[in-house]
Parts: sequence; C-alpha cells; structure tokens
Amino acid sequence: MTDAPRSIRLDALAYGGDYNPDQWPEEVWHEDVRLMVEAGVNLVTLPVFSWPLLEPNPGEYDFAGLDRVIDLLWEHGIRIDLATATATPPAWLIRQHPDVLPHNVDGVRLEFGSRQSYCPSSPIFREHALRLTRTLAERYGAHPALALWHISNEYGDHVSRCWCPVSAVAFRDWLRARYETIDELNKSWGTSVWGQHYLDWNQIEPPRTATGPINPGQQLDFERFSSDALLDLFQAEIDVLREVTPDVAVTTNFMSLLRDLDYWDFAEAEDLVTDDAYPDPADPEAHVSAALNYGLMRSLKGGRPWLLLEQAPSAVSWRDVNVPKAPGQMRLGSMQALAHGSDGVMFFQWRQAKFGPEKFHSAMLGHRGEKSRSFQETKALGAELVRLAPIRETRVRASVALVADWDSWWGVSAPDSLPSQRLNWLSEARAWNAAAFALGHPVDTVRADGPFDGHTVVLVPNLYAATGAQADALAAFVRDGGQLVVGPFSGVVDHSEQVHDGGAPGPLRELLGIEVDEWWPLADRATGQIALDGETHSLRVWSEWIDAGDATVVAEYASGDLAGRPALTRRAHGAGAAWYLSAGLDEAGMQAILARVFQAAGSPTREIRSTALEVVSRTDGTDDFTFVLNHGREPITIAAQPGRAPLLGIDLITGAAVAEQLTLDAFDVAVIRHPTEPEPLFLTLADHSTDQPTT
Ligand code: GLA
Repeated sequence: MTDAPRSIRLDALAYGGDYNPDQWPEEVWHEDVRLMVEAGVNLVTLPVFSWPLLEPNPGEYDFAGLDRVIDLLWEHGIRIDLATATATPPAWLIRQHPDVLPHNVDGVRLEFGSRQSYCPSSPIFREHALRLTRTLAERYGAHPALALWHISNEYGDHVSRCWCPVSAVAFRDWLRARYETIDELNKSWGTSVWGQHYLDWNQIEPPRTATGPINPGQQLDFERFSSDALLDLFQAEIDVLREVTPDVAVTTNFMSLLRDLDYWDFAEAEDLVTDDAYPDPADPEAHVSAALNYGLMRSLKGGRPWLLLEQAPSAVSWRDVNVPKAPGQMRLGSMQALAHGSDGVMFFQWRQAKFGPEKFHSAMLGHRGEKSRSFQETKALGAELVRLAPIRETRVRASVALVADWDSWWGVSAPDSLPSQRLNWLSEARAWNAAAFALGHPVDTVRADGPFDGHTVVLVPNLYAATGAQADALAAFVRDGGQLVVGPFSGVVDHSEQVHDGGAPGPLRELLGIEVDEWWPLADRATGQIALDGETHSLRVWSEWIDAGDATVVAEYASGDLAGRPALTRRAHGAGAAWYLSAGLDEAGMQAILARVFQAAGSPTREIRSTALEVVSRTDGTDDFTFVLNHGREPITIAAQPGRAPLLGIDLITGAAVAEQLTLDAFDVAVIRHPTEPEPLFLTLADHSTDQPTT
C-alpha cells in the first residue's frame, strides 16, 4: 500500500546544488558557505560519493568531517538533500568481494576506477549499502538541516544492466516468481522456435552476446528484471529510511526519459520526483525535448510538483564537444523547469572541480571564483527565485497527455528481429511532442491504462505491447469524449512478446476500426508522402499497409507502393474519436494532424507555429502563473487571443503590468500572475515575430 507522499522540508523554492566539500580543504568551506548565502542557496546535496571517507574500513565510521560541514551549512540556514552515499562502493569492498563488480553483455567484468561499480543484484553490495544507509539515518535523521533523503545517484547511469553470474541467479529467481513453472516460461518465451526449450531454471542465463538474435521474450524479461533489480535496491534503502526516519521524504535523481528504468515504478516508491536535466546548449531545439521530460516528471506523481535536482550552469564535460550556455540560457532553462512544475532549481555542482573527470564541467562557482560568469548568473537567478515564491506547490495545466510505456519502449528497441531498427519510441515521442509544442500545448505523460482525468487529447506515439486492459481504458477515454491518436506499430504483441491473434492493432482493433496487413518500413534513403487537406507531407522511417475497416480515411499515402491506401484514419466512438496514424511523418505533417485533433477537442492552436515561444501555466486554483518563454535568439512579440481584456496580469519577476502585446528579448521570460480562468491563457506569436529560433 502506498501512503501519502512526504514533502521536502523547505518553505521556499529550492535553490542550490551538489556540494563536494571532500575535494577541498576546510577553509574553503567557509568561503563556500559565505558565497552560497550571497547567491541565495538554501539546499545542497551531499555526500553523494563519500562512502570511502565515511566508512574508511568495513564497519568503521568517520563522520567528523560530515558533521562539521552539515553544522556549518545549517548555521547559515542551508538545508541538506542528504545522500545515502551508496552511489559508488569503496575500493575495500570491491577488493574483498570482487563479485560485486558488474559484467557487461559480453560477460566481461568491469573494473573499479570510475563510479557505480556494482552489480545491482549483489547481496554483498546491498548488505553494505543498507548498513551505511542505516548508520547515516540514525546519525542525521533528527538533524534540523535534513530536508530530503537522496538515495544513490542516477540509478542506471553507468550500470543499468548486469550479466554476471550473481545477476544470473537473481534473474532466475525473478523468472520463477513470474512464471512459477518452467513450462509456463517455455510457453511465454515461445522456446519451440530455434530449439530453445528449457528443462530447468538453472539452464537459463541472462541474454549475453550469443551466436545470433536472442529470444525476444528472454530479452524483454531481462529488461524488466534489470529495471526491477535496481528498483528493489532502491526500495530496500527506502525501507531502512522509513523505519528510522518515517517522516522524511525520499528521492532518487532521475535522468529524464531514460530507456532502461521504468520510472512509473520508481516514482511510486518515492516521495518526491527529482530530475537531472542536461539539454545540449548546442541544440537549438533541446528545450522542446526538455519540455517532454519535464512533462514526465510532473506526471509521475499525478501532477505533484517535482524538483530539478541537477542541471549544468553552463557546459558539461561528457559530450564530445561541450558547448557553454550563452548568457541568459541557464536562466531560461531554469525558468522552463519551474514553468513545468519544478519547485526549485538545483545544479551540478556548487564549486567547479580542480581535479578528476569533471574538472571542466561548469559549476555555480567557476574556477575564477566570485568573478566567474556562472557565479554572477547564479546570484542573479537566486534573487529572482525569491520573487517567484508564490508558484510553489502550484500545478501545471495541460489538456494533452502522451502515453509512455516502458514495455513497448523495450520491445521496439530490442537489438534485432524487428521489421526495422529505425523506429524508436523516444524519437517518435519527441516528434509528437514537438508538434504539440509548436501548436502551443504542453504535454503531460500518462500510463497506457490511464488515468486520463483532465485530458482532452491522448497521444500514443507507439504502444507496441498492448494489453486488453490498456485498450479498455483508452476506449473509455474516447467514449467519454476524448480524442485519442495512436501511432504506428501499436497493439502488435502481448506482454509475452507474442503477436496478438489476427495481428495488429490487437486489442485496439475495435476502437480504431482498422486492421494492419503488413509493415512497410522505409529503407534508408527511401522517401514517400501522404496527402492531407491538399498538402503532401513526407514519410519518416515507417509506413504500413492497413485496411480502414469501419474507420474514416482522413489521409492517404500519396506515392510509392502504398499510393492510394489509407495512412491516417479516424473512428468516432461515443462522444470522442480514435485516430490511427500508420506512418512516421515530418514536422509539418505531424503539426497538421495534431492541429486537426486539437480542433476536434475544442483546443486552440497557434497559426504561426513556433518552437521559439513556449507558454505554460501553473495554478493554485485562484491565480494562474503563466510562464512565457522565448527560446529563440531573436526578440519575439506575443499576442493574446482576440477578445481578451487588454491587461493580462502582473509579471512576477519585474512587477510590471503585462498588456495584451508583450515583447520578449532573446532567451527572456515573463511570469504573468492573473486570476485563474476556465482555460489556461493561450498566447501566440504576433504576425511580425520570427517563427523559428535561429541559431
Ligand atoms: C550526473 C551526475 C553528477 C554529475 C553530472 C555531470 O548528473 O549525477 O554526479 O556527474 O552528471 O553532468
């Protein structure tokens, strides 16, 4: 049973970052705290990677340094997001128990020397990690500075799957619990193909590199098992913390839309969703995917505020080319996270490292110290956040939701045996989100079986693995008046990776009204079009031979072998409609389709489509806080829908009244406070604005 989520102990928007005092002599800590206060920092994350210092020998603890740093921070009113320090085991543990080290898909043991060097299923790692967690909880559980527990760090960042013998044992246990008998497993995996039949659990191994394509059932179960293995470890730490400090909120920092971990399950286990976001400053469209990631973060706990726990003040150090953020870009990215429901802005990290792999990663306090641009920008943002305090605990208003389903994601990214390796769940989700973004709609994320409350449009870019229960929930949404859009290669297999009887779209057949005859993926460099409303739009990656059945054909293929066949269909059901798009489409095509769908849902859309402008409203039920963000490098002018009162509201940042026409400089933002209205404030670009961000 899940109890009500606990809240972070902080009565302001969180502001701060990862702090690694271990890397600095103690006198530097005093300067750190002075500058933190100057910058408005109220929360720091520590000691994420300090296990070897806290437990220098097995069972021998040294908390003197951590005691001093926590007390020093607290003397200055700074609270702690206290890590359980279990993100990386110490060398002594590895040398005593080399079995703790993970193995890669080729069965090669990965050496100590980086971080996260542990097998998620290792009982030895778990035993030691839980002992440290308990010791920390007992020592600091009552400390007034403790705001939040931070378990491990970015689960799955380096090691999300392990193929070692210890994992093999755990995988077999997991399979036994799922199937109970080996016969059931054989049936589910379809082991009659290629002579894969198992007589005994001990004959099963994790899907290491083999002679050819791996059994897809085995592969999918290994994905599920691996996500569960880290979840189990997470839950074990949570259990210890709940026992010792039942009132303190727990989190682990997510990595945005991460393929390897089913974040729906992780979010259910924790109190507060937190995310690490690293949009690439070199990518002028990075903010569009960021919006989707943030939509997931706020949706993982049903719309509750989440927290941006890490972002870079400027450049990172792990891309091939690490481009810094231009002046204003860090502020804008921070505001975007706030717009999407984050109750604060945190960074990696406070002081820029002098050594180690992250010495070129930007920090709030750069190598140049107080004079650094990043410190100046950090300080300025800290002051602005104080003015934004009223947005805390408010909720984002979004009427569009996008289905994220990890089983389907894993299925369509299996290493082989698919019609095409080019259809990728994440790229499709991003393409669909980008179209909604350009039309002016923020997108929430939902599970395939809902709940869909409050949403008028549900987008399903892909639901490869679909169940009857999901189809029923989606049908109920449509019957009650929703507009549902299902993308290609959906309803293909059941949750055992077996093709649904009669083929796709399986359990969605009745709702969508169509039947798929054959997949028609595009060969590399192949082109094709669909025709919609007298315009043609280019295909990407995928098309299908479908029969429209009792659905209406809205668009047809316009060229190639499928010319004249249905491409986009619509079937009315109850008070709503279910649309099926059988192809991957270019940007303009996706926008044209979603514009039609939004119109059917009674939602406004922008005539001048733009990914430079983003408008997102948060609400407390009485007032709305409408964030207007200019992601472009040119000024833009924004207009309200015709017929609105000329005064939109007051900008929380500047205190100025905002009238119906608002001009925003490059990378600028306004946060307009105004009385809540039945529909969120819908703002568009005025005619003369640029319609795309320029690079
Ligand atoms: C991740 C990690 C941090 C740090 C940053 C660098 O977010 O959690 O420890 O390595 O990346 O970008």
